Amino acid sequence: MKEQLAKIRAEALAAMEAAQDSAALDALRVQYLGKKGELTAVLKMMGKLSPEERPAMGQLANEVRAALENALEEQGKKLEAQALDSRLKAEALDITIPGKTPRLGHRHPMYIALDEIKEIFIGMGFDVLDGPEIELASYNFDRLNADEGHPSRDWSDTFYFDTDSRVMLRSQTSPMQVRAMETRELPIRIIAPGRVYRKDEVDATHSPMFHQVEGMVIDKGVTMADLKGTLNAVVEHLYGKGTKTRFRPHHFPFTEPSCEMDVQCHKCGGVGCPTCKGEGWIELLGAGMIHPRVLEMSGIDPSVYSGWAFGMGLERTAMRRFKIADLRLIFENDMRFLEQF
Ligand code: DAH
Repeated sequence: MKEQLAKIRAEALAAMEAAQDSAALDALRVQYLGKKGELTAVLKMMGKLSPEERPAMGQLANEVRAALENALEEQGKKLEAQALDSRLKAEALDITIPGKTPRLGHRHPMYIALDEIKEIFIGMGFDVLDGPEIELASYNFDRLNADEGHPSRDWSDTFYFDTDSRVMLRSQTSPMQVRAMETRELPIRIIAPGRVYRKDEVDATHSPMFHQVEGMVIDKGVTMADLKGTLNAVVEHLYGKGTKTRFRPHHFPFTEPSCEMDVQCHKCGGVGCPTCKGEGWIELLGAGMIHPRVLEMSGIDPSVYSGWAFGMGLERTAMRRFKIADLRLIFENDMRFLEQF
């Protein structure tokens, strides 16, 4: 038994010292000191010894057990310290590595143009309104005097949500005129920028989603002269003092009379060049005097009040303002492009 104990002691201590991790160490604890462990088995045989042998053997067995327990604890501490050490090494921060500069975004040229537009209108006493992109056809068409047969109501032009063509993605910001008349006190001076949607294929000048800025004034004694004066001031603010404009007759269901406003080409000064397609002028917006029926439908008496309105394409305005040739660049969000403005 003495030899057996000595053998267990030597083997166990060697194995414990060689254990590489706490799982291996725990396995050794079970192997020697567990219920069915090797040392436990020897201790169980104590009862078979003679009374003379028992005290000395008992003492030796206890010493072996204490030695094993001690070795387990020591090795356990050592392994723990090693694990901590290697973790600290692995997770060490090298504060001498140069930092990563966070990449800052850049203001989008279209929003730079929009801010310029807002700035001049706010300066003239206009409020800026925001409205829903999912709109009722009654606001987008009916109450703007575009009756059931109007071509823009067609399914091939407009995104509808329902088979009755009552709920749609707004195709223009003009429904904001109706919403403003419905919710605001007279006189009204508002602009309403936002997204609009039409079933157009993407190309250099078209996108199924684009932006417009609507504008409207309703007051007593408002005339076409106010329309021209205000829009001329806006154009000079955007494109520089002395920029010439031209008003051409047009048709919109919600204005009478209606017009389109052109700006003299900034590239050629009106002579004709590729930028203006040889015209000398570039179309900027649609406008007109609000149709008396549109006022009436929103409960405003056209014999007392009159108004004017306009709708301009924001992408176009920004493209002209910053001389951008392709509409797709506006939506691609390529930093190399955006950082130029
Ligand atoms: N809503 C028109 C369009 O999308 C633009 C427009 C024209 C708006 C005349 C107006 C206006 O307010 O008076 O083509």
